[in-house]
Amino acid sequence: MKFVGIVGSNADQSYNRMLLEFIRRHFKLKFELEVLEIKDVPMFNQDEDQSQSFPVQYLYNKITRADGVIIATPEHNHTTTPALKSTLEWLSFNLHPFEDKPVMIVGASYYDQGTSRAQVHLRKILDAPGVNAYTLPGNEFLLGKAKEAFDENGNIKNEGTVAFLGQCLDNFVKYVGVVSQLKKPKPIAPEDLDCGKPISTTITGVDPDDPEWLDKAAKLVNAVEGDTYVKLDQGLLTVNQLNMFLNAMPFELTYADDNNQFLYYNNAHQDPETMMAKRVPSQVGNRMSTVHGSLPPARMKNVEWVIGTLRNGNQEYVRTIVPGSPAEVINTHNYQAMYYPDGSYAGINEIVFNFKPWLDWYLQTTGQRLVGGSGPSAAPAGHGHTDANSGASDAGGHSDNANSNTDADSGASSH
Ligand SMILES: Cc1cc2nc3c(=O)[nH]c(=O)nc-3n(C[C@H](O)[C@H](O)[C@H](O)COP(=O)(O)O)c2cc1C
Repeated sequence: MKFVGIVGSNADQSYNRMLLEFIRRHFKLKFELEVLEIKDVPMFNQDEDQSQSFPVQYLYNKITRADGVIIATPEHNHTTTPALKSTLEWLSFNLHPFEDKPVMIVGASYYDQGTSRAQVHLRKILDAPGVNAYTLPGNEFLLGKAKEAFDENGNIKNEGTVAFLGQCLDNFVKYVGVVSQLKKPKPIAPEDLDCGKPISTTITGVDPDDPEWLDKAAKLVNAVEGDTYVKLDQGLLTVNQLNMFLNAMPFELTYADDNNQFLYYNNAHQDPETMMAKRVPSQVGNRMSTVHGSLPPARMKNVEWVIGTLRNGNQEYVRTIVPGSPAEVINTHNYQAMYYPDGSYAGINEIVFNFKPWLDWYLQTTGQRLVGGSGPSAAPAGHGHTDANSGASDAGGHSDNANSNTDADSGASSH
């Protein structure tokens, strides 16, 4: 499970931040926790809507995609901090990321009552119609005497306190499992598959559907190539090295951007006919509508569904198993959302992968075998199989992350 933790303090030194960091480290096997700050969130002002500002959007996107939220609230004058209240105002004004979201409250403060009064207030705020969170009932983790509670490594000293915190968190994990059943998916807005909404990286001056788009567009932007170095977040590689690296991936990779433009694939196979989701060089740069030009309208709807689902945060990825593959092939497609620094949707990274050799290797190496089940995966009812990038698809279904049959961006397929 993926949770986010909100530090309810904007102070540089915060016991509530320490508490969340401790939870993140100490309980890392129970769930993944990303700690979020509210320091840069502006003071709420109804007359100056800053819902689209970076700090508000960042929180909105992170909360929207999290399975649950843990808020660590300080207590100031028997209530929450103005910074936390202001943040909750922005997140209940024009944006509503807490709607039906499981939330757990914890808190640390100087005095014996350990934020009990602030927690009562926060619980009420979270219950307001504009917030509408599902706050975990019956569990109060109150860390009093916060100054003495942590050791020099930021760990809670008292073992009994840690054990109690663990119990509360276990309850939250169970609660999230139950409450997630009540989640109402956000409506999916129609997608423009014709690339009609250029983004800052869209290269204008060459038609996306031009078969020579790659060379023409590269020339327009003076793209580097060959042995020129590219500085990456965690590395420094030449363009040639990047190509070698990507082409050596034991799966087919595709990149389609936020404007639904098909920008890249790693042609490790040379012969498009041998690809699991066939792509050809002239497709690079294409509009998604062109990539999927041969798909019937119903399947185009599925392409839109995959993209819309990732864009609005209902899911971080969509996985499909393409039915009708030969016995030695388990043709899996994984559509993973990519994100801009503010956490909003930046496009799709698609991995098309034959899972069978890896599965066989695993079974042989571990001496295990597959047992039970009702045979080859029967896709649940719902959306038919799409190929959001490639179109390599067939009939099937979708209802959640598992077993759906969708393909968002690979493109030149056999349809
Ligand atoms: C204006 C102000 C009011 C406070 N009121 C309370 C209070 O009502 N109850 C309490 O336990 N601590 C109170 N404190 C002390 C906080 O518990 C302490 O500042 C705590 O460290 C805040 O959490 P943080 O370290 O995460 O910022 C107050 C502190 C300030 C600055």
